[in-house]
Amino acid sequence: MMVLDLLLAIQREHDAALGFRFSCRVAMCGTCTLRLDGRSVLACQTPVPRDRDTVRLDPVAGLPVLRDLVVDTTAFWEEWARVTPYLVPRDDLTEPAVIRPDAKERQLIDPALDCIGCGACYSSCAVSAGSRDFIGPAALNRAMVLVADSRDAAGEERLAAVTGEGGVDRCHYVYGCSAQCPKGLDPAQAIRRLRRWRLRPRSSDDGR
Ligand code: SF4
Ligand code: FES
Repeated sequence: MMVLDLLLAIQREHDAALGFRFSCRVAMCGTCTLRLDGRSVLACQTPVPRDRDTVRLDPVAGLPVLRDLVVDTTAFWEEWARVTPYLVPRDDLTEPAVIRPDAKERQLIDPALDCIGCGACYSSCAVSAGSRDFIGPAALNRAMVLVADSRDAAGEERLAAVTGEGGVDRCHYVYGCSAQCPKGLDPAQAIRRLRRWRLRPRSSDDGR
């Protein structure tokens, strides 16, 4: 039984007013994030521990609780917006512009692409919880993907934004974001790269 099944059973059998979010049930929408015994997880993908009589469920940390397990995600998405989270196409490229499968930048981009905006990284980041001006691990990971993309025309401005106030220098490298990302992404590594790219051109990066 998944945590989401448990919540649905509680709602059905004990408390019809219990508040929680879900949609896809297949780890794609990112809406069902909560904390299970303090760890940020997707409720639809996380089994209820079999060896326990009780578990503790809490809402995502660092965001205002609206009701029960439902939080207001506005701050998370405001941070996302600060990095211009979409590709700004260069004018001089012929469409469709592609990144070759063997291109070095693909090694940087592909492992960081699968973000579903679930906020588990945000929930496990003490800096995000305590500081509204920190851009946050998910948004910084997205920024790294776009700065690495040679088809993008906004890389320099984006890099300036994420290495300025509230940006990468606020990270303490506790690695909670990378440890708890349910999609296996590594936002802490993305933050390290952005720090390095501020100091030397991306083309000279060694991929680590
Ligand atoms: S980086 Fe991982 S934990 Fe953070 S929002 Fe994206 S998928 Fe969720
Ligand atoms: S319900 Fe969509 S990720 Fe869990």
